[in-house]
Amino acid sequence: MDYRHLGRSGLIVSEIAYGNWITHGSQVEEDAALACVAAALDEGITTFDTADVYAGTRAETVLGKALHGVKRESVEIFTKVYWPTGRGPNERGLSRKHIIESANASLRRLQTDHIDLYQAHRYDHETPLEETMRAFDDLVRQGKVLYIGVSEWRAEEIAAALKIAADLGLDRIVSNQPQYNMIWRVIEAEIVPLCEQEGIGQIVWSPIAQGVLTGKYLPGAAPPAGSRATDEHGSGFISRLMNEDILARVQLLKPVAAYVGLTLAQLAVAWTLQNPNVAAAIVGATKPEQVRENVKASGVRLDAAVLKQIDEILGNLVVTDPQLTASPRTRN
Ligand SMILES: NC(=O)c1ccc[n+]([C@@H]2O[C@H](COP(=O)([O-])OP(=O)(O)OC[C@H]3O[C@@H](n4cnc5c(N)ncnc54)[C@H](OP(=O)(O)O)[C@@H]3O)[C@@H](O)[C@H]2O)c1
Repeated sequence: MDYRHLGRSGLIVSEIAYGNWITHGSQVEEDAALACVAAALDEGITTFDTADVYAGTRAETVLGKALHGVKRESVEIFTKVYWPTGRGPNERGLSRKHIIESANASLRRLQTDHIDLYQAHRYDHETPLEETMRAFDDLVRQGKVLYIGVSEWRAEEIAAALKIAADLGLDRIVSNQPQYNMIWRVIEAEIVPLCEQEGIGQIVWSPIAQGVLTGKYLPGAAPPAGSRATDEHGSGFISRLMNEDILARVQLLKPVAAYVGLTLAQLAVAWTLQNPNVAAAIVGATKPEQVRENVKASGVRLDAAVLKQIDEILGNLVVTDPQLTASPRTRN
């Protein structure tokens, strides 16, 4: 496993991180979740990503259990706040009240006294940004949070947060967590240039497009049993990628992967890591074998000819519009 700095910060992360959205506390049984985390640790993954909202807070509990007894200094635990964790109007968003309450609840579930990276899971249009930045800063001063980041914020929202931090002497964000893979490249036009300049690293999600870039979903065929596309919660999220054109083009990538000696999943993860602004690719997995396969993307260098072939095959399926990065206008 290779390791990278998270942006310009002193924090080092494993360039392949493990995340438990949809899986822990939901799609997979607890023993499979624990086995995936054990495989991740065994393969040199030190960075683990979760969120208060995943599986109605159960994902954090499972991750806390899986990491219990592991030397705290040997792992980086990332979690998030914004999406609803309860029915109340204050159990969501980035108000001071919810940030502080949710951070304390995450610490309890994760069985730790500090969160390595605390991320705003979306931009909250209903809360003044200064209130959010001050609340994050307070958590840092209290030692409950070591670094702060955001997820799916637009370039101008990131720039506004940096300005407030600079003006008020608050802790500044070190990371952004966007969706990024061979198909979804909307961060490249505006977010990556700003973040490169400002020393902010990307920790990218769905590097394998939720499993679609493994090539296991065949055009015209039923999805394999037990896959995300068959899961009660997962199927809704993956559905926009399950169109015949995408599935057919992914099959055409197979010879490219074979040419460089990789599986399609490994090629997909390695592709995201070619971008030097990416600090880590967060992979999900329902089985330890998937973790063991995906980590082999670490350290892979893809040459320009291979990248060009991928672009030619995917062609007009590649999404680049920066306007597609957006947070809900309201918290409900
Ligand atoms: N910030 C955000 O808004 C946000 C949003 C989404 C995700 N995330 C983060 O990113 C993490 C990863 O997202 P993701 O789960 O969508 O990532 P992904 O790595 O693109 O997809 C993971 C899924 O693909 C399948 N898969 C993975 N490796 C495979 C392999 N080698 N062979 C066959 N199938 C394989 C598995 O599902 P099946 O076995 O069920 O098919 C696995 O659960 C999340 O856990 C979370 O931490 C963040």
